[in-house]
Amino acid sequence: MSRQGFAYMAGGAGAESTVAANRAAFDRWRIVPRVLRDVSARDTTATLFGRALPSPFLLAPIGVLEMAHRRADLAVARAAAAEGVPMIFSNQASVPMERCAVAMGDGPRWFQLYWSRSNDLVRSFVRRAERCGCDAIVLTLDTTMLGWRPRDLDLAYLPFLRGRGIAQYTSDPVFLASLSEPLDAPPAETPGRPNVRLLRAAWEMVRRHPGSLPGKLRSGMPRAAVQRFVATYSRPSLTWADLGFLRDLTRLPILLKGVLHEEDAHMAVERWMDGVIVSNHGGRQVDGAVAALDALPGVVRAVGGRVPVLFDSGVRGGADAFKALALGASAVCVGRPYAYGLAIAGERGVREVIQNFRADFDLTMGLAGCASLGEIDRSRVVGPGEVSVAPGVDAS
Ligand code: FNR
Repeated sequence: MSRQGFAYMAGGAGAESTVAANRAAFDRWRIVPRVLRDVSARDTTATLFGRALPSPFLLAPIGVLEMAHRRADLAVARAAAAEGVPMIFSNQASVPMERCAVAMGDGPRWFQLYWSRSNDLVRSFVRRAERCGCDAIVLTLDTTMLGWRPRDLDLAYLPFLRGRGIAQYTSDPVFLASLSEPLDAPPAETPGRPNVRLLRAAWEMVRRHPGSLPGKLRSGMPRAAVQRFVATYSRPSLTWADLGFLRDLTRLPILLKGVLHEEDAHMAVERWMDGVIVSNHGGRQVDGAVAALDALPGVVRAVGGRVPVLFDSGVRGGADAFKALALGASAVCVGRPYAYGLAIAGERGVREVIQNFRADFDLTMGLAGCASLGEIDRSRVVGPGEVSVAPGVDAS
């Protein structure tokens, strides 16, 4: 990966204390294996929204995958489909969802939505996701603005400003139609005289945009698309009241991603949401935010089994997935690890990451004395200060 690519993938918000906290939380919970339970045959199947999945893993939505590998989302789509693991298409993908869907055949996929300033664009994205055979919509709520990310700031690099990671937009008829309309506020002019850096940035922007080179240069579309994207992509004014629009828009299950507070989890269920994803965006948004795993038990309690609770942020192996499931998650999303697999070996790298996670999880599950996901419950882990004693047993 380039320096900019690695900074973007690995980086977190601020001093990256939440990135570290996500891992530290996993270390505080320990698995308590049980013995003599016949684990010769193990079933790692998970069922989500009526669909059986081979394992409790999904691929988290990760934007701008072209920073990791030139085949980007397409390589991930092929790998996910080959392994039968759902891929959650990112709103900030490098490849339009339609191309990924074709590459996936019947493979399961979901779509992750950022709610932009334009409800027409939101509608268009959701319709496209439905046509692409997505099984669910994941509405990410923790990124109404981009977090303060020093690694990107140090390099003065934001991929979107170079036309990277905006393929869902530049392939969208509603977005393209909006390019001929004037922007509400004119974009700030680039200061100073043209230099190599600016020219390189401009060339990158043009190269990323779909279409023929002469056409792109003549139309000025690449620059217009980036400017429109910046003006449109997020809506920090979003509130609970807006959810009705999305609920009325689609019959697909809707999951809220970025839920960390019990009350928010409760409100999600009250407003007819079909699931929540406990996540702090891998520590990329609020430095100092609670570790996602520490937030999980409270959210599970608030949801009370009414809808599935998924989990991500810091999952780095099978034991982590086991701990999240023991604390009440129905499944976990793998984030950065598959992006690193992609960077190293493309489609093959992503497949290997998935296979390794699954094998590790299967072994951990069996060695902990569980033959199926249903047997992984709160009694299988101990938290800080706890001892593993079944209720009613004298520990002395
Ligand atoms: C993300 N994540 C993310 N989430 C989302 O809803 N839409 C997106 O486009 C992206 N893009 C993105 C890019 C990169 C480079 C990273 C690392 C993450 C967040 C992602 O879905 C997930 O929440 C985190 O990756 C989980 O944390 P770990 O396990 O990667 O630490």
